[in-house]
Amino acid sequence: MSKEELLDELKKKMEEDESLPLKKGATNLVFGVGNSDTKVLCLGEGPGYWEDQKGEPFVGNAGKLLDSLLQSIKLPREEVYITNVVHHRPPENRDPLPEEIAAYGVYLDKIIEIIDPKVIVTLGRFSMGKFLPTARISGVHGKKFNVRWKEKDMAVVPMYHPAAALRNGEVMRQIKEDFLKLPGILEELRNRQKEVVKPEVEQMELV
Ligand code: URA
Repeated sequence: MSKEELLDELKKKMEEDESLPLKKGATNLVFGVGNSDTKVLCLGEGPGYWEDQKGEPFVGNAGKLLDSLLQSIKLPREEVYITNVVHHRPPENRDPLPEEIAAYGVYLDKIIEIIDPKVIVTLGRFSMGKFLPTARISGVHGKKFNVRWKEKDMAVVPMYHPAAALRNGEVMRQIKEDFLKLPGILEELRNRQKEVVKPEVEQMELV
C-alpha cells in the first residue's frame, strides 16, 4: 500500500473511533494534510474554529502565518505534511488534556510512522512535549535535537506556536528567525545522509 492509502485507511479508522475524547463537541476530524513523501512534518497543537469547520489543519490566522513562514524559506505548504497533537477541536480552544493527548497520540504515532519524516517541526509546547518533555520552549526554540523515536533517527526542531507569534511581536521576530534556520538544518541532514551512503558505494566499487 502507498503512504496515501495507508493514511486514508488510518483516517477512516479514526473517523469511526467513537472513543476519541473530543469527538462529541467537534464538527470535523482534522486529520492532516500535505505531501506524504515529505521529509518535513509540521506538528501543531489542535484544531481551532476554522480547522474544525473545514477539516484541515492550520487554515485560520495561525495557518496563514505558518504558510508565510514556509514561503519565507521557499518551502510551500504543499511540500510538507501538517498535522496536530489532537485531531478534534477542544471546546473553547482550551489546551488539550494529558489523557486527550494520549488518546490521539495512538493515531499520531501511526501518522508519523507512515510519513517517516527526517525533521519534525513542533509548533508550540504541546507538540514539543511529545519529543522533548523536559524542555522549555524559550530555551530551545529554533535549535535542532537529534531524537531516536521508535527506532528511527530524526531531528526535532521546536518552534513557537504561530498563534503566540500573532499575539507577541518579540515571539514573531523569533519565529521568523527560527524558520530561516530550517534550510541549513535540512542541508546538513542531506549531507549526513550522503556520508552514510558513501562507504557502501566505495565498497561496491572495490568488489
Ligand atoms: N493551531 C494549531 O495548533 N493547529 C491548527 O491546526 C490550527 C491552529
